[in-house]
Amino acid sequence: MSFAGKNVWIIGASAGIGAALARALSAQGAQLTVSARDAQALETLARDCPGARVLPLDLGQPETLDAAARLIPENSLDAVICTAALYDPGRVADLDRVRTRALVQVNLLGTFEVARLAPPLLKHGGQLVLFGSVAGYIGLPGGQAYSATKAAVNNLAETLRIELAPRVDVRLVCPGFVRSRLTDRNRFDMPAIITAEEAAQQTLRGMQGRGFEIHYPKRFTRAMKLLRALPYGLSLRLTARLSS
Ligand SMILES: NC(=O)c1ccc[n+]([C@@H]2O[C@H](COP(=O)([O-])OP(=O)(O)OC[C@H]3O[C@@H](n4cnc5c(N)ncnc54)[C@H](OP(=O)(O)O)[C@@H]3O)[C@@H](O)[C@H]2O)c1
Repeated sequence: MSFAGKNVWIIGASAGIGAALARALSAQGAQLTVSARDAQALETLARDCPGARVLPLDLGQPETLDAAARLIPENSLDAVICTAALYDPGRVADLDRVRTRALVQVNLLGTFEVARLAPPLLKHGGQLVLFGSVAGYIGLPGGQAYSATKAAVNNLAETLRIELAPRVDVRLVCPGFVRSRLTDRNRFDMPAIITAEEAAQQTLRGMQGRGFEIHYPKRFTRAMKLLRALPYGLSLRLTARLSS
């Protein structure tokens, strides 16, 4: 599949993987609608993406998503990609109630809202691309609310893959570590970390293929899949070492 002339809505386009996806798709001739909270960052991005339409929204305020969706004609999109997420690593004893609610609202409930609104906007066979994470494969030290929401998104995508087929082609993206403002908050070595541009290229290659899950970099994600497949007695002993 070529992206030339395809209509793609990216939610979470103002930074990181979403912005890199926007630039890569635009370079291939896609027509974009770009969304996130930071309208100025979206306008700056749109200057690099000829014809891009800027629709700011906040998944923390679902009515802004509704309003943006109402501006997009039904059956007009080839893909909806949702990369939007918040990240707030830490230990459960230090959880901030307000920040945790916001994180669950954006990462989990926001993804539910996107999944509800996207299908009528997509053409038959269009793609709904949801960003989960390898952090959702198995609980890791420090992951807390973020990892729990990503496990839920992984699960939601599996459900939607069946529920929305064949009208919507649901894809799940599970990155390992990607350099962005999200991972800039990590204070540990991130194995096999890649750039947002590499992540965007791998995502687009995956969207052009047929597989449900798009995961990268393989040298890291395969190890995480193996860890997940082990009996808990073994996998939890191994993950415990990550916190020591
Ligand atoms: N980076 C990694 O290593 C990694 C690994 C695994 C999975 N992922 C997943 O990949 C996706 C992209 O991550 P990233 O590294 O590109 O993160 P990022 O650089 O922090 O970008 C996140 C994007 O989400 C948007 N966003 C955040 N809150 C929002 C809200 N309330 N409403 C609308 N948009 C909102 C941000 O824009 P505004 O601030 O302008 O709203 C930004 O455009 C996320 O789903 C993340 O969980 C990332």
